[in-house]
This record gives sequence, C-alpha cells and structure tokens, in this order.
Amino acid sequence: MSILKEKDFGTPASKSDKQVSVTIDGFEVSVPEGTSVMRAAATVGLDIPKLCATDSMNSFGSCRLCLVEIEGRKGTPASCTTPVAEGMSISTQTPRLEKLRRGVMELYISDHPLDCLTCAANGDCELQDMAGEVGLRDVRYGYEGANHFDAPKDESNPYFTFDPSKCIVCSRCVRACDEVQGTLALTISGRAFDSKVALGTEDFFSSECVSCGACVQACPTATLEEKAVIDHGVPNRTVLTTCAYCGVGCSFKAEMRGDQVIRMVPYKDGKANHGHSCVKGRFAWGYATHKDRITQPMIRDKITDPWREVSWDEAIKFAADGLKKAQEKYGRKSIGGITSSRCTAEEVWVVQKMIRTAFGNNNVDTCARVCHSPTGYGLKQTFGTSAGTQDFDSVEEADVIMVIGANPTDAHPVFASQMKRRLRQGAKLIVADPRKIDLVRSAHIEADYHLPLKPGTNVALINAIAYVVATEGLMDQGFVDERCDLQSYKEWFDFITDEINSPESVAAECGVDADAIREAARLYATGGKAAIYYGLGVTEHSQGSTMVMGMANLAMATGNIGVRGVGVNPLRGQNNVQGSCDMGSFPHELPGYRSIEDKEVRGSFEQAWQRELDGVPGFRIPNMFDEAISGHYKGMYVQGEDIAQSDPNTKHVEEALRSLDMLIVQDLFLNETARFAHVFLPGTSFLEKDGTFINAERRINRVRPVMKPATGLEEWEVTQRLANEMGYAEMNYNDASEIMDEIAALTPTFAGVSFERLDRDGSVQWPCNDDAPDGTPIMHVDGFVRGKGAFVVTEYVPTTEKTNRKFPLILTTGRILSQYNVGAQTRRTSNIDWWGEDVLEIHPSDAETRGIRDGHWVSLRSRKGETSLRAVISERMAPGVVYTTFHHPETGANVITTENSDWATNCPEYKVTAVEVAPANHKSEWQEQYELETPSLRQLMDESKEPAE
Ligand code: SF4
Ligand code: SF4
Ligand code: SF4
Ligand code: FES
Repeated sequence: MSILKEKDFGTPASKSDKQVSVTIDGFEVSVPEGTSVMRAAATVGLDIPKLCATDSMNSFGSCRLCLVEIEGRKGTPASCTTPVAEGMSISTQTPRLEKLRRGVMELYISDHPLDCLTCAANGDCELQDMAGEVGLRDVRYGYEGANHFDAPKDESNPYFTFDPSKCIVCSRCVRACDEVQGTLALTISGRAFDSKVALGTEDFFSSECVSCGACVQACPTATLEEKAVIDHGVPNRTVLTTCAYCGVGCSFKAEMRGDQVIRMVPYKDGKANHGHSCVKGRFAWGYATHKDRITQPMIRDKITDPWREVSWDEAIKFAADGLKKAQEKYGRKSIGGITSSRCTAEEVWVVQKMIRTAFGNNNVDTCARVCHSPTGYGLKQTFGTSAGTQDFDSVEEADVIMVIGANPTDAHPVFASQMKRRLRQGAKLIVADPRKIDLVRSAHIEADYHLPLKPGTNVALINAIAYVVATEGLMDQGFVDERCDLQSYKEWFDFITDEINSPESVAAECGVDADAIREAARLYATGGKAAIYYGLGVTEHSQGSTMVMGMANLAMATGNIGVRGVGVNPLRGQNNVQGSCDMGSFPHELPGYRSIEDKEVRGSFEQAWQRELDGVPGFRIPNMFDEAISGHYKGMYVQGEDIAQSDPNTKHVEEALRSLDMLIVQDLFLNETARFAHVFLPGTSFLEKDGTFINAERRINRVRPVMKPATGLEEWEVTQRLANEMGYAEMNYNDASEIMDEIAALTPTFAGVSFERLDRDGSVQWPCNDDAPDGTPIMHVDGFVRGKGAFVVTEYVPTTEKTNRKFPLILTTGRILSQYNVGAQTRRTSNIDWWGEDVLEIHPSDAETRGIRDGHWVSLRSRKGETSLRAVISERMAPGVVYTTFHHPETGANVITTENSDWATNCPEYKVTAVEVAPANHKSEWQEQYELETPSLRQLMDESKEPAE
C-alpha cells in the first residue's frame, strides 16, 4: 500500500466568491479571484516546481524555482506570489524556464550534502524530487566551495532533529511556527550566504518551541526530521484516524512501515485541525506499546493478593460471578459502572447498555461527572441541548473572544493556534482567569482585558457583566423578543439589574476592578460578533451549572447565538467527553439526553434491547462512593478511568474502593484504581480501536485500527462477553459498525450517521438526520432546540470553602501542555522530559511571607489532607492563589481537594480549596503510604508477568 500523499497546491485557497478564467499551458482554468498562478495550475494537474511554497501558509517567493512566463508581461514572475487575472495566458514549461530552474537547483545542490541514498528522508524529500523534476544532471559550481556541511546537529528535542547542514533556508519552518502554530520560536538570522534558521536560545529544547511539529512537517528537506524516521525509515502506508487526547479531535495519518507506526502526521483534510497538531497527538503516542501495558486479563480474590494471569473466559466468568453474588446478597442496585471519555462512542454505548440490561439498573455515570456535567445541565436548561453551539472554524469570524476558565494554549493547543490567528488579525480578547495564562500576553497577542478573578467568584463576575449590558441598554432586544422566552427574560432582567449585581458591588468579592468589568462588558456587547470559550475553570465549582447558565443568558441577551463567530463553547477536556455524554452515560438519561423516566423513550429502548428497563435514575459517581462506604454498593465496572487519582478527596475514594467486593478495572495500565481491583481487563489503545470519537464541536470522527488489539479482543467485545455472562444474551454485535447502526436507530440526533457515511464523506457534526442531512456546524440558527431560549436567574452563592487564618490561600488546579489528565499516557512518553513532576505555583509575595524559595519543597495542607511538592515562584499567580497540576499520582493533588460539588450535577469543586503552604523537608503521610504501596504494586506487576498456571 502506498503512503497517502496529500496534494500540495502550493498556496492557500482563496475565499473569494468571484471566479477568474485564465489559460495555463493551453488549458482553460477557472478559479476564485486571489488564487495564485501556482495554485490555479495545480488545480488542473500542472504542478509547477517549488521549494519555499506550500499550501498551509502564505507564499513567500524566496526560492525562485516556480518561475513562469505570462503573455504580455516582462520577465519570469514567481507563480506562488502572482495572483491570476482575468484572461491571463501562462506558460509553465518553456526551454527558458527549464534553464532558469536548473540554475536555481544547481546553486542549492552545490551547498547540500550529496548523501541522498543514506539520508533519512530519501524518497520523502522535496529537494530530491525537485532536482529530478527540473532534470538536474550537473552542478557547474562544483561542491568544493564554501558550504555549511559542518554545522552541528541539534538533537535536544526528544522527537525530532535539526540538521542545519541540510537546510536550504526556504523559511518554511519559520513561517509554519508563525502562521500555523503562532509561537514564533524561529527566525532567519544573518544575510545571504550566512543566513540560517535561529532559535534565540542554544537549542530547541531550551527555546520557546512547544514541539507542535509544524516546522518538521513543513520542512522540504531532512533538516527537521522525526527521530523515528531516522531510526526506522520512511513510512510506506497510511491509516487515517483521530487523536486520542483532547477534545479538539485532530485527524491524523498514522504512517506505518509494515506493522510499525513510524509517525503521526496531522491530516490536511481534518475538519477540526486542518493539518495542524500539538506535541501530544503528533509525538506522544508511544504509550500504546509501552512495556507497562498489561495485555492479559488478571484476577485475584483479595486486593492484597498477587494478580494471576488468566484466560479471557476465566476472567469474565470470575467478574460476572462476583457481580451476581453482590446482587444476590445486596440487591439489584448494588452494582454499577463508570464509562470512559477516552473510549470510543461505541465502547461507551455497550457499557451503558450492559448496565441497563444485564445489571438491571441505571447505576451508570461517566468521568464527565467530574468535568463538564454542568455544561450538560446548563446548556440544556437554557438552549435545550447539551452541546457547544459552534464549530471551531467559527472563531475565524469572531470580533470579540471571551475566554473564561480555560487555558487553550495548554489544554486545546490546536484550537488555540486557530484562535491566536484570529487575534493577530485584530479580534479583541477578554480573559477571565485567576492566572495570567499564556493568552493574556504572548507573541503578538495581548488581552484587551484580563480579569484575574478570585477562584469561586465566576457567577458574581458574569452577573456583573450582564448587569452592565442590561443597565446600559447594550442588549439585542430584537433577538430577545423574537427568539427567547419573554417570561423568563423578564424575571432575569428584574434580577440582573438589581444593584447587588453591579460591578461596584462585586469588585471586592471578585478581586477585579469594577471599571475593568464595565469596560469588558461593553466590549463584549458592542464589539461585533462575540464568542465565549470556556473550560473547567467554569464547571468545576459549586456553582458550575449556574455559571454555564449565566454565560448562556449573556449570549442570548446580546444576540450572540445562531450565526458564525459567536456562541457559547465548552472546550472539552478529553477526546470523547462529548461522545460519552451523548451515549447515555448518565444515571438519569438515555442516549441523546432523554430522560430515563420518559416512558415512550424508554419503551423504544426496551423494544430494541428486548429487556424491561428500570425507570428510576441510578447513582452518580459520588453516590456510588457514599453507598459503597455505607455498605450498599458492592460491585463496580470502571472503564478506562483512574478514579483513585482523578476524583476529589482521595482518602474518601480509596475508602469506597476498598469497600467493594468486586471491582473490575478495564485499562491499558495497572493504574491507581487497580490497586483496589479484583479483576483487571486489559484495554486497547486508540491505535487498536475501531469506532468514533466525538469532539467539542459535536464532530463525529472515525478512529481506525492501525494494528490488531494486543489483548486479542476489542473492548466492546469484552463488555459484550461480560454482558452475556451476566445473562444478557441479546447483545451480539459482530463489529463496531453494527453498534453505530444501533446508535443511529435509537438516537434521533445520530440518525444519519454510519461508518459507511463517515468513511465516504469524512467527519460530520450532530445533529445529523433528515432535518440536517449534512450535519450541523452551528446550532440554534433559526430557533433554539428547546423552542424559545430560556433565561435563568443566576444568583451568586459563595462557596462554603472559605479561607481563614489557618488556610489563607486558595488552591486551584489545571493542566500543562505536555501532560494529559492523570498522566497515565503522557508520563509513558518522552513528554516527561518537559514535566517530570507537578509543582506548586505561588506568587512572590505569598512565598516571601512564608520563607519559601523557588524550587524548594513545600507542604500543601487543606482541611482534607496534606501533600508536598516543589514550589515555583511565579507572577502568573495573583496574590492569595496557588496553582498545581495533577499529572503525577505521587503528588496527591486530590488528597487535599474537598468533596464540595456543583449543586445541580455534583461536579467536584476542584478549583477552590482553602490551603496553607509552608516550607517542608518531609513527605506527607499520604505520600509515605503511597510510596510504601507503590513498590508492592510494581512487584505485583512483575509477578503478573510470570506465566499463568
Ligand atoms: S515544533 Fe512548533 S513550536 Fe517548535 S519551532 Fe517548530 S513550529 Fe515552532
Ligand atoms: S529547516 Fe527546513 S524548512 Fe526551515 S529553512 Fe531549513 S530547509 Fe527550510
Ligand atoms: S490539540 Fe488535542 S486532539 Fe489535537 S493533537 Fe493536540 S491533544 Fe490531540
Ligand atoms: S515556490 Fe515560488 S518562489 Fe519558492
């Protein structure tokens, strides 16, 4: 099979509606106005030689290889920088042009090592291709003159090398870093023969580079090359699939050599990423074949016993027997399960179906409980459906961008690059975040307003913004009158215009200057199309749902819904958070967000699944823990989640897990939760999965297997076998496409979706059905899903988590670019080189009053527990607020978080914990115990490698 080479048209497509007709080498061509001659020629298969041009960035015109002749014009203009004009007659192949091109190539080759046959890029090098293309046979200047052959290689980046001896100074890398990624880490220094690519620091690793790979992809030579290609050779086949990290859902070509993945290359036709990537999706996939992976099922009677490797049959029977025994003794509702947002929609579907049919209850919840459940609740109440309103490309038309409680450059990097492009074009930016996140100030970007609010005061802030809009007459009254429920609007208006919501009233509580709130509100309401993007800094609060509704109110009041460039957009954390929610992973909702108590809906599932379903909602995750501790919940199936690390109040979670008689963990690695498990069912990585992920813009993307499951079974097959063993024989799919067919048959928003359609047409955004056969990029265009948009009164209720003299600081948590969630995947890749441990960011004044020095160990104590980690003194923090991540289990960040949660959905209040920080020279009690247990975990893993008896 051949590698999928995407056609390179040389320059970006023009967006003009006006067509222009020209003749190229005798062929009539009609293209949009503004198209380059190079691109126009490429559309009819006339590929003009080029080196510095590529269609992912603007033309530059430096290599002079793409010269053409144009009738009536003097000279030989560069086709990449010359736009077509009506009636132009262009020649791309003449003896004169051939001679000129050969001359250009001669100059390049005279300063290029002649090691093509042994070069890593042999067969995948545009310089080599162009030398052949122009018919280069000789180099008149010889190879002995001044050259750059001795320039030292930079191998500092773990994933790619920079070999300047091969550089032709085409500047594609510099422009990729500027235009595609938006980091501006590279420049060209020097002039003429001395010009070279420069970083501003000693090497790539110590530079501003964020390892997105855009320059590597853009480089036409082997100067910037993936180390895997150097080590293993150029790939020779391609499988199209989707990144398994964040909710952007980037499409990738898995480029293979035989059965080995050599590299992941972002797919130009990927609708979410348009050929761009971040360090995680591009490079951090090696965990899939990491030696820590468990590929054999394992069981044990007690959690203190060593694991025994067993056959799939034995493991599934053992698991089913344990669950059945628990039900016999403690009742039908004593077991349940948790679905995973890292698994495919199909894998999630079968788990919730197994719980509702084979377990006979609705004790199913998902990890979205601890991240975006307030999004589901809040957007459903106001707009009528639990989904972001826009596609990512919509940001290209936003005039004002408001980022609240999100850090896109770290957590959603590819979308952040798209957003930064729009900001550099002049869109205004409001950032509401306790930290000075990168967007507040980075290369060529500066937020117009940074509102550094105190954690926990989101609702007060959004109410104050809405107060300004309402009291200063900045609303879109026409939109409200036509599109919204007027009774709810009136109640909201009366509430929001109360003086308690004024910026002056809330400024002290929020810690934000009242004038800044007023100015930001005016900008949002009057600056043109305004879009809100938000993340877990909104949802993970005791008023997470209220805040989501507050943003929805604001968007409706200003008419910022239903067209491109506006909206309320949750940036979903994990790859399939949207999908796991869509698939009915909630105890009160069937797939498609339909109430389990709705008889008619339930009936449609009962008919299809041939089982009577329980009409009573089941347990949420926190209820499962509480019921386990009180002795009523005894068996649990945890699909691909590490609740012992990711959920708040670790001690409470551990106590609950220890109370279970049968804990089944399905995962790639023996994670923290597996310490308490009786059955370990090995899972599959995204490289082995067949199915779909659904991203933050509701886009259903195909995930295709590039290798067979290392475990011998696909994950849905394992669930199916467990469901069968539990007595539900009616689950009998033959492959994942049949699961999607069932999803489409039972879920109206997915009615038009099938693998066949996705394979044929690419991704599609739900709703996709008879009413929207091509999918739905923008929601609520002609009316809200619920009919009229509903305003909700959003009274600010301060969190009960208060600072005091003993705990005077507020801890808030988040992610960094190179790591992902609990780190189970990224810690098993070279991304660990960038982030080997979690640290505590603290403002200089808070550090000074406590005698804390940069890089020194500190204890971090809350009412719930204590941990210790290293301090980093940083002005990014506001005084009074400290920050950490939870990518490393030994940090125990969740040992100190509380069990406070969102009033509507129980989403934990991770973002607000009152703490004290002090210099420390010892580990916390929890960490010491963790370290005591961890070697034994490793030992158990080693024992588990021994052959089964
Ligand atoms: S890897 Fe990305 S960030 Fe780093 S230099 Fe290249 S384009 Fe810039
Ligand atoms: S490193 Fe590659 S892309 Fe950058 S200037 Fe050199 S040859 Fe061109
Ligand atoms: S932005 Fe998200 S989906 Fe895209 S490559 Fe990075 S981690 Fe993967
Ligand atoms: S490709 Fe046109 S000048 Fe380089």
